[in-house]
This record gives sequence, C-alpha cells and structure tokens, in this order.
Amino acid sequence: MNKKFYITTPLYYVNAAPHIGHSYTTIAADTLARYMRLSLGNEFVWFLTGTDEHGQKIQRAADAKGMSAKDFVDQTVLQFKDLWTTLDISYNDFIRTTEKRHIDCVRKVLSILYEKGDIYQDKYEGLYCTPCETFWLESQAPDSLCPDCKRPLERISETNFFFNLGKYQDWLIGYIKKTPGFILPQSRRNEVLSFLEMNKLSPLCISRPKERLSWGIPLPFSSDHVTYVWFDALINYISAVGTFDDQGKYHSDWWPADLHLMAKDILRQHAVYWPIMLYALGLELPKAIFAHGWWLIDNTKMSKSRGNVVNPIDMVNKYSIDVYRYFLLREVPFGLDGNFSEEAIIKRFNSDLANDLGNLLYRTLTMVEKYFQGNVPVAEARSEQGRRIRQKIEALSREVGEALSPKADYNFNLCLEKIWGLISLANKYVEETKPWNLAKENKTEELKAFIRLLVDVLRKTSEVIAPFMPQTAGSIAQQIGEDKIKKGNPLFPRIDTNKPAL
Ligand code: MSP
Repeated sequence: MNKKFYITTPLYYVNAAPHIGHSYTTIAADTLARYMRLSLGNEFVWFLTGTDEHGQKIQRAADAKGMSAKDFVDQTVLQFKDLWTTLDISYNDFIRTTEKRHIDCVRKVLSILYEKGDIYQDKYEGLYCTPCETFWLESQAPDSLCPDCKRPLERISETNFFFNLGKYQDWLIGYIKKTPGFILPQSRRNEVLSFLEMNKLSPLCISRPKERLSWGIPLPFSSDHVTYVWFDALINYISAVGTFDDQGKYHSDWWPADLHLMAKDILRQHAVYWPIMLYALGLELPKAIFAHGWWLIDNTKMSKSRGNVVNPIDMVNKYSIDVYRYFLLREVPFGLDGNFSEEAIIKRFNSDLANDLGNLLYRTLTMVEKYFQGNVPVAEARSEQGRRIRQKIEALSREVGEALSPKADYNFNLCLEKIWGLISLANKYVEETKPWNLAKENKTEELKAFIRLLVDVLRKTSEVIAPFMPQTAGSIAQQIGEDKIKKGNPLFPRIDTNKPAL
C-alpha cells in the first residue's frame, strides 16, 4: 500500500490502572489517526494500541492481590479498554501480549534469530532493577541503586539468552545519520546518536529462567526460559499486523509503521533495540519514532510507582472528554515536559473554550436567529477585513496539515494556536463591526455578508478541530446546520473560579 498511515502507541503495562501520562500518548495518536483518516480515507489508516502483560512486575502485582497472573491481567486490561472508550479513542486494533497471534510471532522471531546465531546462551552476573526490568553493570550503579528510578538493585547470577546488539551498532549509527527524520524530535535523535557513539552496546539479555519467572513466553529453544519483557513487547508492532510464513518471510499489508509514539522514558528501547531486531530479521524499519515529554506533578514525573498519578476519568467527569483532550494537546508543545494542574485546565477552559470558541458560536447563532429567523444567509465577504478573514479560512487546512507533519514535530500545540488565531480574529471582527448598528441602519447586505462569514469561520473550525475534539466538532456542525441553525445550550459555560463547588 502506497498511501497509508500505520501509527502505534506503546503497549502499556497492566500492573496498575492507566493515568494521565498513558492517556496523553493515546490521545495524541488518536488525534493523528483521525487527522490522517480525513486526509487519506478511513481504510488507509491503522491505529494500534494495546497492553504489555508479561513479566515480573505484573506477576508481583497479581501476587499482591492473591490472583493468578492471567486473571489479574484480564481484569486490568479492562481499565485500559474502558478508558479508551471514555476518551473516544478510535483505535483499529488492541493487542495484548498474552494473545496467541503475538506469542506465535515472538517465538518465530526468536527461532529465526537463534538459528542465525544472533541469540546465544551465556552466564549472567550483575545487578537488576525489577521495577524497570533492566540490567545494570556494576560500573553503571556503584551505589547499587537503579540509575533510572533510584530504587535498590537486586544481585543476580544465572544462565540466560542474549541478543548480540553490538554486532549491529555501526550499522545503526550509520542509519540514524543518513535518515534525519527517523528519530524525532531532533534533540532526541542527537541524544540517541551520542549515546551510541560513546558506549559500546552490551548484549541484551532476552530471557528469564522459568524457575524465577514463569509468566512469560517460553523460548522455542529452551524449556527452562521465558522471554525478557522488551523482546516480547516490541514485537507487537509486527505481530499485530502480519505473520511469518514457514520460510520465515514476514507478510503484512501495514508494515512498516509510519510512526511509533511514546514518551522519552522508552526511547532507547525503540530507537536502539527495536531497529536492530528488525534489521537482524531483514525487515524494514519504522518510518519515524517520536518521543514526547512527560507530564509532571509539581515538577516530578507522574508515575504509578511514585504514587502521584491523576486519574483521567476524574478529569473527564469534571471537565468533559473534549476539554481534557484539548488541554493536553494545547498546553504543552509536543516533545517537552509539562506540569499538570487543574488550575491550568480551568484557565484554558475559560479563555480558549468559554470566551473564544463558545462565545463565537453562541453570539453567531443568536444573530442568525435574531436577524434572519434562523436561516443562514448567503452572501460574499465585502469589507477589507472580511476578505482577510476569508483568506485565513482558506489557508487554515494547509496550516493545520503543516503543523501536524513530521517536519514540524507533530506540533499539536501550534496547530491549535493557528485555529484559535482564526477564532480570535472572528471575535474581534464582531466587536469592530458592531452588527447591531448595521441592523439599525438597515444595511442588510453588509449584515448578511458579516454573519455568513462568521458561520463559515465556525464551519471551518468544526472541520479542523474534529481530530482533536470530535464531539465538539459534531456539536458545532449540528448547531450551525446546512441552511437552518439549531441553537443549543452554550458549549462551554464559564467556570466560576470563586465557587469552590466544582
Ligand atoms: N510496557 C512498556 C512499553 C512497551 S512498548 C512495546 C512500558 N509501559 S508503561 O505502562 O510504563 O508506559 C510507558 C509510556 O506511557 C510512556 O512511554 C508514555 O507513552 C506513557 N507515559 C507514562 N507516564 C507518562 C508521563 N508521566 N507523561 C507522559 N507520558 C507518560 O513502558
């Protein structure tokens, strides 16, 4: 398929309920998927999400609840699925790493790489961080604390299977250098590149002895081991959209992915392990890997293990789905960290949604009702300013497309800024034109042209915000109607910050 767009989110761990951080990546992916469906056509877009269900972390969370791992993951996965339904996430497929289609594919990949000699057995001694599922060398953690999460490391000695990453290190450096759009944003690409240039990649331990961890995919070449969590999970991106035949050839309509989205915490696994795994398998690499920033609470990363998470459902119940989606994508430039607070949501709500968009819709509908009995007038823009706004309307789709392109780092924030630029211009136009005077002076043609322009601004707005705020877009389109309006309640009634009740 030439014209297609295959986008993925990470597979989230199901050891606890989803929080704002998970919803952020998924909402961003959903917005791009919706945008691309509008540009390419529904059948050319594939949006994959899912859950990472094996490993010690999950086994321990199940043990703590006195449940079997299988029962535990079957229960927690529902919290993710329910949240995505609540947030209007339009995924095409949801893959769980415990599904047969995935397990079969992982075992096939393991066999191919084992036969090729890229996976081999060795004895491992060193330090291990269970929460991060990562091995560390003594030299990397002289205080025996995990360099990432600062929790105590466990000392481990065991026989395991290893994937020879180092064999492909020079190839990967060369590939990243000659493919500037592969790792985005640019600053992350530079980080990965300098990491690769300054460090020799150690072999990646891809297994666990069964006696220590049985909750995993059994290796096809050792009955005593299961796969290591990253080697299992990354493969979902190909297991969900294709299969290997008996000759070990992979077939898929969707691979390679056009975009893997994630936060910076798991960039290295995606930008180093995954490309090497694919290259070793003889498969194409994803077109782009984008690592966004973190949502912080009081400048600390929000995470389950730190216990400072905010439940997205609470935010949606308070502010609505679209307000929540809008806030996340508008507040922080994609790629940077941002502090999450309800004060910031309320501020955005009152200024951008109540004052700007809600007000423009309400006053326009009121004027159509008052001056034209609810019929949308037909007229051309007349004034200089009117023509300027008309040009802005015409340029907006292109500007949105540019802002949402890989070249612009999928700049949702800039895109919304452009859309709100038009809304502000239209509100200013109302204040400057003083339509009540046009009515008083019986300047009907001017009044028609003026109101028609506002209606067209709203039509355009509803079209371009649809990927971000699907329900709001629908509601605007419905209220504006084809030629007869159907005025409803104000979309975003102002939040009174003096009332503590909210
Ligand atoms: N299971 C692995 C991913 C395997 S992908 C083949 C994993 N899971 S996770 O549940 O920890 O999810 C990490 C991802 O969740 C981040 O990369 C990001 O997409 C999202 N986020 C989790 N916390 C976040 C923030 N505080 N802020 C922004 N995004 C965050 O890693």
